[in-house]
Amino acid sequence: MKVYSGLAGIPVVKSSISYIDGEKGILEYRGIPIQELVENSEFLEVAYLLVFGKLPTVNEYKKFVSDVKKHLQIDSSIINLLEKLPLNTHPMKVLQSAVPVFSAFEDVEDVLDEKHHYNALVRMLGHVPTVLASWKRISNKEDVIPPDGSLSYGENFLYMMRGEKPSKEEGDIFDKCLILHAEHTINASTFTAIVVVSTLADFYSAVSSAVGSLSGRLHGGANERVFYMLSEIKNTEDIPSIIEEKLKKKERIMGFGHRIYKTYDPRAKILKDMLKKLSTKKENSLYRIAEIFEREALKRLGSKGIHPNIDFYSGILYNMLGIPVQFYTPVFAMARIAGWTAHCKEYLKENKLFRPTQIYDGGHNIHYIPAEKRK
Ligand code: ACO
Repeated sequence: MKVYSGLAGIPVVKSSISYIDGEKGILEYRGIPIQELVENSEFLEVAYLLVFGKLPTVNEYKKFVSDVKKHLQIDSSIINLLEKLPLNTHPMKVLQSAVPVFSAFEDVEDVLDEKHHYNALVRMLGHVPTVLASWKRISNKEDVIPPDGSLSYGENFLYMMRGEKPSKEEGDIFDKCLILHAEHTINASTFTAIVVVSTLADFYSAVSSAVGSLSGRLHGGANERVFYMLSEIKNTEDIPSIIEEKLKKKERIMGFGHRIYKTYDPRAKILKDMLKKLSTKKENSLYRIAEIFEREALKRLGSKGIHPNIDFYSGILYNMLGIPVQFYTPVFAMARIAGWTAHCKEYLKENKLFRPTQIYDGGHNIHYIPAEKRK
């Protein structure tokens, strides 16, 4: 028997939600190229597409947006809960703790009931931006700003977090970032979500667990670390030696490499193009550093198929939008609610409890030693 370490290359589901060609750098959601969705759609429409398998009609979309917006308001007990947390709690931990609490407000408890899928989706899409923005305000000892349903989904989040209304351009950029982060086949966090739902636990438990999985630095947590790595660079001439030093120490270059993409991550390319356009309007020193860093890192890693991934440029954009660094990965999670929910719903159609096996390589018949005789 062989161990499939990290399950690399092992299909665990059949799925029609998204598709990646890692050699050609192609990503599609429900068959539609990601570039086309970023150009023409908006995040909530993409969320609908991912979860329900088709683009909504005008009326379906109106109802969906209205249902999400109804849930922008969170119960005061959730705010009270946030107010009791230590102010230095990382927002990913706050999110991971808050999501299961949403189930207390849910009427439909049976995970096999499609009403639960819809209710949980609109509740999480509505509540999560408010929880995150409220936590940003509470942890900075600022007043919590109630949601403004007249704004777009992305604009409202920036407004609640920053306390001032964003420009239309800022709202659009943020919305496009959410589209890019909404789904990405069976990665570690999505796998976590379907493992949890395969036990017939509810979608809130699945998403909360997926948030924990996303927080690690080999997955979504990389975007925060890329920002720190680039911010520490004082002189661009030092970049080649910084990279060399990291590789010598066998350190990973954050925001580079991907299990599936062996070429440029198409999402990173879209983010880079967006940044390039923005940087012609506002001088952005971090973007300049990132471009040089990318060029130098590619000289060392490109031939191994290690290129920038989505996390390399996202933080610089979030920084320009006034989002604090600790919120980069939570914003990723906010978008990924769509993908996680889509996979949970799809998986339950032919649910099979995940129960892998192992190859035991420990001993047998080893006898208990009383504490005082142990060495
Ligand atoms: N920097 C330096 N070397 C790297 C990097 C990197 N970022 N990524 C892979 N490598 C090297 C490894 O050191 C290894 O080299 P070796 O064979 O000489 O030991 C080789 O490439 C293969 O590495 P694996 O970890 O086996 O490759 P895998 O496909 O599992 O890696 C991963 C994927 C974990 C994402 C990796 O590229 C990495 O650690 N990247 C940095 C963290 C990061 O940016 N994560 C975000 C990924 S995107 C996302 O999750 C949203």
